[in-house]
Amino acid sequence: MSLKHFLADDQLNQAQLKSLITLALKMKQNPADYQNLLAGKSVVMLFEKPSLRTHISFDIGIQKLGGHALYIGQQNGQLGERERVSDVAKNLACWSDAIVARVFKHQVLQELAAHAGKPVINALCDLYHPCQALADFVTLTENFADLSQVKLAYVGDGNNVSNSLMLMAATLGVDFTLVCPTGFGPQAEMFNKAKEIAQASGSQLSLTANVEALGRQDAIYTDTWVSMGDETKVEDILATFAAYQVNHELMNSAGAKVVMHCQPAHLGQEITAELFDSELSVATSQAENRMWAQNAVLATLLAEPA
Ligand code: NVA
Repeated sequence: MSLKHFLADDQLNQAQLKSLITLALKMKQNPADYQNLLAGKSVVMLFEKPSLRTHISFDIGIQKLGGHALYIGQQNGQLGERERVSDVAKNLACWSDAIVARVFKHQVLQELAAHAGKPVINALCDLYHPCQALADFVTLTENFADLSQVKLAYVGDGNNVSNSLMLMAATLGVDFTLVCPTGFGPQAEMFNKAKEIAQASGSQLSLTANVEALGRQDAIYTDTWVSMGDETKVEDILATFAAYQVNHELMNSAGAKVVMHCQPAHLGQEITAELFDSELSVATSQAENRMWAQNAVLATLLAEPA
């Protein structure tokens, strides 16, 4: 598969996504078969924002492939402040084989990719979280026999996680409903892009502010109401979002069998503790699958052709 970077979900076609999902599941079943894939390779992980799952799953995942991971946290401040992003990219590329970056602005990832000459992986930005979405579709593949028949809904704040999920669902032909309060949905450009992709794949894509219009769903996904980098105070939006809480009542009304969350979860806000801790929740599988999904991406971007 010819893939240079893993920056935004709409840069991958259906065949590429399906092959990444298949590889992630193979790696999960037979990790020993892949233990030398990144031998002698080093990956720099550049994080402008906090992380638990992404940091650890990349670090341990790279180790499982026989590679070396190096983490640079927030001590250097925001990228582009102390020195140009292009210079950071050129320097890192001298020593490493790939860059994993979590940044405030998507444009910074594009700049890294333009100047590094080495693969760049988006570990979350303001617009996308493609590693999460890939892990989510790995998780859905484990839970449903036929992905193309799955009805997936996202309820809550329209953000990086919902953008990636919407774009990947559209590419994979999965029906996707986005339920966000008015004013908290995706940017029109993002939704239109997903609509275009959905038209080509045959996926039904809808956007509504009306929770009552959710209809029957197989899986319901939610994420924080206030993302990292968003200055909004949660107290100021609690009333707006109250009707969008994902709880047992909503699951029952949609007939949904699976609830998904990328974590960290804000219990009592976007999801109830009862539901998050229930057997309907696949949040821990999603977290586990982050590593296998990312390893499939790393292998595809970095492994030498056989
Ligand atoms: N939307 C959240 C995802 C955290 C993994 C954020 O950007 O903070």
